[in-house]
Amino acid sequence: MTRAYNFNAGPAALPLEVLQQAQEQFVDFQGAGMSIMEMSHRSPTYEQVNNEAQSLLRQLYGIPDNYHVLFLQGGASTQFAMLPMNLLRDGHPAAYVHTGAWADKAIKESKLIGETVVAATTASDNFMRMPSLSEIVVPSNASYLHLTSNETIGGTQFHEFPDTGDIPLIVDMSSDILSRPVDVSKFGVIYAGAQKNLGPSGVTLVIIRDDLAKDSPKSIPAMLRYDTHAKSNSLYNTPPSFSVYMVGLMLNWIKSKGGVAQIEQFNRDKTKLIYDAIDGSGGFYQGCAQEQSRSLMNITFRLGNEELEKKFIKESEAEGFVGLKGHRDVGGLRASTYNAVPLESCQALAQFMTHFQKQNG
Ligand SMILES: Cc1ncc(COP(=O)(O)O)c(C=O)c1O
Repeated sequence: MTRAYNFNAGPAALPLEVLQQAQEQFVDFQGAGMSIMEMSHRSPTYEQVNNEAQSLLRQLYGIPDNYHVLFLQGGASTQFAMLPMNLLRDGHPAAYVHTGAWADKAIKESKLIGETVVAATTASDNFMRMPSLSEIVVPSNASYLHLTSNETIGGTQFHEFPDTGDIPLIVDMSSDILSRPVDVSKFGVIYAGAQKNLGPSGVTLVIIRDDLAKDSPKSIPAMLRYDTHAKSNSLYNTPPSFSVYMVGLMLNWIKSKGGVAQIEQFNRDKTKLIYDAIDGSGGFYQGCAQEQSRSLMNITFRLGNEELEKKFIKESEAEGFVGLKGHRDVGGLRASTYNAVPLESCQALAQFMTHFQKQNG
């Protein structure tokens, strides 16, 4: 079998070893005579899968004991609503950094729930950069500050985070979770859909400081309250058990590669190949994001005109590349180089880019 050079933005590439391990255990999980998918989520076997995935995450990401690790459903999009429902208090606005399409969606949901202010925006730069920390102005009575660490569509990424003191810092890390070490103790909540860096779709990771998961307003339905899930070890209702199991395999794979710091180095090596191909092309390829905000996860670039971009996509597909078309809202090209994308795929893309330039430059 030939594996595609998979640059999909999400769901995205998974390591071949992880897929093969899942395949081996697919029909008979640990001699149980059934698949993990057929098992009760109340069984000791599944409970162990759930607990192991959590403890691996704690270990790999350095999550302090005063944080809950929750495996929820509904995607990061549900978190856009759950966060203000649980944490936005009357008289204390929610502050958001407006950095592109995903921040925009989070802001729209928050506005439905309560007072929402924009603490910084890069709209006037077409969202092609992240704001500097000094541009972010948080009201002193804010319920929290929310930001999007990596804008998947624009291809921009925060390379440092603000110190918000007593105001909880809440970060959507859907497209860069576990791609680099972070100091979890600086955040109130970190959340991410799993389907880019952590595993398959279907499970949403929420890492939440315990004081924020304690007192959800009584008016919120049970499934949308953090305290419900925190109290029940993410087993309040039937969890996405197969996805959680896959996240566990993916975390073991990250561990086997040397952990998150090593993964960051791999990610840097991978993206350097492609950014070098852009920067060394004498303007044939143009990176979209401003250099200081370039993402290590989503590399966005353009060619001289749309015809040439279409040709690039068509010819790259014929060579086994997948997922290089930019998001429909912005056009152009995008290579998503998440944790599981192998170096070889990036080497092949850099070579293809050089070859394509020779033919069309
Ligand atoms: C940064 C970011 N936030 C949120 C989402 C939405 O995630 P979900 O599809 O899990 O709701 C995405 C999806 O691509 C994303 O990239």
